[in-house]
Amino acid sequence: MLKLMNYEIYCTSCHKASTSLLDFKCSSCGKPLDVRLKLNFEPRQVQLKNHSVWRYARFVPYIESRDAVTLGEGWTPLVKFTSNVCFKLESLNPTGSFKDRGSTTLISAIHKLVKKQNGYIAEDSSGNAGASMAAYSARAQLKANIYVPQNVSGPKFNQIKSYGMPVVKVAGSRSQVAEKALEPAKGKFYVGHIYHPLFRDGIRTLAYEIAEQLNWKPPERIYLPVSAGTLLLGVISGFRHLTNSGIINAIPMIVACQTRQVSPLYHRVKHLDYKPPKKVTSVADALVSTNPPLLDLMIEELQEAKGDAEIVDENEIQKAFTELAHKGFFVEPSSAVAYAAYQKQLKTKKISKTDETLIVLTGHGLKTTMQPTS
Ligand SMILES: Cc1ncc(COP(=O)(O)O)c(C=O)c1O
Ligand SMILES: [Zn+2]
Repeated sequence: MLKLMNYEIYCTSCHKASTSLLDFKCSSCGKPLDVRLKLNFEPRQVQLKNHSVWRYARFVPYIESRDAVTLGEGWTPLVKFTSNVCFKLESLNPTGSFKDRGSTTLISAIHKLVKKQNGYIAEDSSGNAGASMAAYSARAQLKANIYVPQNVSGPKFNQIKSYGMPVVKVAGSRSQVAEKALEPAKGKFYVGHIYHPLFRDGIRTLAYEIAEQLNWKPPERIYLPVSAGTLLLGVISGFRHLTNSGIINAIPMIVACQTRQVSPLYHRVKHLDYKPPKKVTSVADALVSTNPPLLDLMIEELQEAKGDAEIVDENEIQKAFTELAHKGFFVEPSSAVAYAAYQKQLKTKKISKTDETLIVLTGHGLKTTMQPTS
């Protein structure tokens, strides 16, 4: 049994409590699980000398400190771009993306449980989460089978293999990759990052860091790229914890940014029909969830947080990627989507040039083979 003291893991639909850290969905109704904290955020509990997500260990109560599997993730730089715009450089995490925040909590929580049963874990990913889970599994000396789409980017594929983990390429859609990873096998524990609540929960720390690095005065607007929704949901959950604890006044305006090809959330928010393309060909190769399993939860949370959504075209992504690189910020095209959306909202006068804005740069440019336009 879990120690039901400072937290509870519960079903977002039928509210049944989960009794195992290995559960990736509700054992009764199959809907997503979520972590509910039963303790307030208190700045004096932050471990100021720890320059990683583990400075917030007090607020990750389901992990004993001796079980933490870390590569030094988090506490990434927050850099001023212009007088009112700053970037959060999540691309500088140990495996080159924000996913490390989720892998460190998930792998820390489960590695001993899986090893005790002589098991291995299975994860499905477009590339970055797979690389991250592979790295943290390697650190924990845990075997991980990583399922990826057939057309995974070369650098991401090589990165996963380099950590020494088997990579299975699956033909078909992103959903078919997940189905393959979910197929039961002896010793296999499916802990896919999209479903598992403890991956999403680690991303909460990104909201804490943004607030702390800005002296507990978060910006008015935050732009982030959205595909499966773990980043969006994690960030909202962190800001909600800070508001409920009375540390900040309100959740910043969160803008969920998507490509035109893969924009189920945008279309639902704007009450428009969405027809996914037969094949996703966007340069934003990390944003491929045309039918994300957490979509209902994303809509609910984004609307409750009074957030917004935006979409961008391929030429806008390419332009944003080049513009960022020409200013010294080398990120993968999927990350440039958030900057492209910000530029679009400026151009259409939806926002003003003086709004205090933060853009999350989610993944490193070395993960792409895309060439800049001159
Ligand atoms: C670089 C990058 N940015 C953004 C995202 C979107 O995150 P999520 O799938 O949690 O919405 C991903 C997901 O793979 C990613 O790799
Ligand atoms: Zn349920």
